[in-house]
Amino acid sequence: MKLIIVGSSGYVGKALVRQAVSSPAITSVVGLGRRETPVPENLDDPADAAKFTSVVCDDFLNYSDDVKQKLSNADACIWLMAVTPNKSATMSGDEVRKICLEYTLAGLETISKLPRGNEAKPLRFFYVSGANTERDQTKKPWVMGSYCLMRGEVESRVLEFAKNSNGAVEACILKPGLIRDSQRGYMLINAIQNIATSFISLPIVYLNQIVATLLNQATKGIEKETLENADIARIGQEELIEREEALEN
Ligand SMILES: NC(=O)c1ccc[n+]([C@@H]2O[C@H](COP(=O)([O-])OP(=O)(O)OC[C@H]3O[C@@H](n4cnc5c(N)ncnc54)[C@H](OP(=O)(O)O)[C@@H]3O)[C@@H](O)[C@H]2O)c1
Repeated sequence: MKLIIVGSSGYVGKALVRQAVSSPAITSVVGLGRRETPVPENLDDPADAAKFTSVVCDDFLNYSDDVKQKLSNADACIWLMAVTPNKSATMSGDEVRKICLEYTLAGLETISKLPRGNEAKPLRFFYVSGANTERDQTKKPWVMGSYCLMRGEVESRVLEFAKNSNGAVEACILKPGLIRDSQRGYMLINAIQNIATSFISLPIVYLNQIVATLLNQATKGIEKETLENADIARIGQEELIEREEALEN
C-alpha cells in the first residue's frame, strides 16, 4: 500500500516515516512538508529507505500538478501538520487557524479527489489532534480555550467531510495526550512534564505506541472513528507485542 504522511518533518512524522518504511505491508511512503524530510538512517534493512519519497510543497491551499501527481494512488494519509500549542504562542490566531484548519481541509479535499489505484476502497484519513480539544463550540476549555475549540472544529469537519464523501473517505481522529519518547528519558524533564500534565489532566502516550497505532490502523483498518489516548496506547502496545513475537518465531 501507498501511505502519505503530511508533516513528516516533525517530531511524530520522522518516527512514523522510520517505522512505515520498515513495514512489510507498506510499499511506498510519501512524506509531504514545507521542507525536505530526511531519509531515515540506520534502518534494520537499508533497502527499505528506497520506499521513501520526500515531497516539498509551497502552497498547502492550492497544490501544484507536480505535487498532486506524487500524491496520487495513495491508500491512506496521516495528517500531522499543525501548529502545536507551545509554538502557537508566537503566532497570530488567524495564522494558526489557517495552518491547522484550512490546510487540513484543503489537503483532505485535494487528496481525496486524486486518482487512486483501487477506487473501490475508501481513502483512510487519519487526523492527529489532541486529548484536550473540544468539538462542542459552546464549551470553552479553561486552558488554551480558543486553540482547543479550533482543533475540535477541525476534528468535526474532517469527520463531516468523510460522512459526506459517499464512501470515498474513511476518517479517524486520534486524540493523544503528551507524546513522550521512551528512548529519550531525561528524568528532570519527565518529572516537570508529569506535574504539568497532571495539573491540566493531560494523559501521556509513548511515541512508539502512537506510531504503531497509526500504522496498524492504516494497514489493517480503522477500529473506530475517534481513538482516545487509552485506545492509542492499547492498540499500539498490542501491535508492538505482535511484532516482537513475529521476530522471535
Ligand atoms: N508532540 C506532542 O506531544 C503532541 C501531543 C498531542 C498531540 N500532538 C499533535 O500531533 C501532531 C504532530 O505533532 P508533532 O509533535 O510532530 O509536531 P511538530 O514536531 O511541530 O511537527 C508539525 C509538522 O507540521 C509542520 N508545519 C508546522 N507549521 C507549518 C506551516 N506553516 N506550513 C507547513 N507545515 C507546517 C511542521 O513542519 P516543519 O518541520 O517545517 O516545522 C512539521 O512537519 C500535531 O497535530 C500535534 O498537535 C502532538
